Amino acid sequence: MNEPKTISAFFQQDHREIDALYRDALESAREGAVGRALSTFDEYDRNLERHIRWEEDLVFPAFEEASGLRGEGPTVVMRAEHREIRALKLELRAQIAALRGPADRSATLWGTARSLERVLGEHNAKEETILYLACDQGVPREKKQGILRQVAGEKAPVPRS
Ligand SMILES: [Fe+2]
Ligand SMILES: [Fe+2]
Repeated sequence: MNEPKTISAFFQQDHREIDALYRDALESAREGAVGRALSTFDEYDRNLERHIRWEEDLVFPAFEEASGLRGEGPTVVMRAEHREIRALKLELRAQIAALRGPADRSATLWGTARSLERVLGEHNAKEETILYLACDQGVPREKKQGILRQVAGEKAPVPRS
């Protein structure tokens, strides 16, 4: 993605890409391709962790500064949900690793997968409909551009010539 213009556009796109990796990993698990499921899941995990780090280190502090809501308000809820998401994806990874063949309907991992999908889905929806928009409207232009430059640069590093 070249020069994203808004927090919303960049982070929504990142949500979509992370979701696609998740679906691929679960599809491999369903087929019993455990090695492939785990390597895709780990890529999903790395991308989701990077996304969470960008939010907690850059986006949320900018929102907190602009809104005056520090130690209260939506970012406190979002940080708590990140912890919940982390715990669920750790559990799901272990359940995929324990597979000994295709993950049929009775496999225990589907319950964990549903919980993760619900928590992450609701979390992303709240960010996309409230928090990112509030950042695009409330965070000073310079600050916002600095964040976007940094995250876009980390996502697609310019190759050294
Ligand atoms: Fe988040
Ligand atoms: Fe997010």
